[in-house]
Amino acid sequence: MKKPSTNVLEIADPQDLSPLQAQIENRLSDLIPSDQTWPVKLHAAQRHALLSPGKRFRPLLCVLIAQGASKDIAKRQAAIDVGCAAEMVHAASLILDDLPCMDNAALRRNNPTTHIAFDESTAILSATSLLNRAFGVLARLRDIDPVIRIALVDLLSYSVGSTGLIAGQMADLANDDAQTNLQDVERLNRLKTGALFEFTIYSAAILTELTVGQKEELKDFAYHLGLGFQLLDDLKDSLMDDKQAQKSVGKDEGKATILALLGSEESKQTLKTYLSSAKGALHRAGLQNSTLLESVIDRQFAFLNDV
Ligand code: IPE
Ligand code: IPE
Ligand code: MG
Ligand code: MG
Ligand code: MG
Repeated sequence: MKKPSTNVLEIADPQDLSPLQAQIENRLSDLIPSDQTWPVKLHAAQRHALLSPGKRFRPLLCVLIAQGASKDIAKRQAAIDVGCAAEMVHAASLILDDLPCMDNAALRRNNPTTHIAFDESTAILSATSLLNRAFGVLARLRDIDPVIRIALVDLLSYSVGSTGLIAGQMADLANDDAQTNLQDVERLNRLKTGALFEFTIYSAAILTELTVGQKEELKDFAYHLGLGFQLLDDLKDSLMDDKQAQKSVGKDEGKATILALLGSEESKQTLKTYLSSAKGALHRAGLQNSTLLESVIDRQFAFLNDV
């Protein structure tokens, strides 16, 4: 029998996130079929995309916000699955983003991209099935009121849908002359990347039934964090090589990015402003663990100190 993973409440040192990271990895693996399940090629491709070594920033955020908002064990446990659902959507979006018809990338998380390791049709079908699975995970959250589960399913469908992440990806690929000002590129980034951060963070607020005021602050936090995260990613695309980034870089050339609009110095200042707005909103939300959350965010943005 499989050894039960550590309960998030039993973590002795809250600064040590490795038990939580391990719990997320185990849960991601358990939530999708094994690579022995027919059709084995499809499931091997799903597992290749989902379980390759990502930073898991979205599930970490979801779980830590739920921990800071509630002492209820069922809600804290459910946040792991909600974070895993967000990670499935994220992995699906990366499979599609890497396809030859989109960014045409060969390397992801230091591994060949899914269409290279398998083939394009398997990559498309594995992305579609990961997206599907994410909704099932939310529908089945254990010991959570069905009204809340439906609200989460509804929120995810908007966040990923044709007015959310997919709209952002569409605008990114269209790369038309209309996106020549900061406002348009911020809208693109908010949708392409921010929408899933907004789901990740707001879903923890819905799950733990925070006050309206706290939810509004977390929305503001998610908005600025999403913008900051995409700008950080754009800086990495321009300043890192494939080895450092562990993925194919140089893919933004000719695209409407904040970096292309403002240049690197002003972009770094803009990123610092996003980050400080995000942290301000996070602290105003008044979660129990906002200092820990801030240190997790700082770790993700550490690259900013080196450039
Ligand atoms: C990369 O996301 C794509 C963006 C939305 C910017 P991450 O930087 O979180 O990628 P992984 O999950 O760690 O590989
Ligand atoms: C990806 O943006 C956003 C989505 C997948 C929706 P990028 O194209 O910049 O992400 P990377 O750089 O390939 O990870
Ligand atoms: Mg892209
Ligand atoms: Mg890309
Ligand atoms: Mg990028």
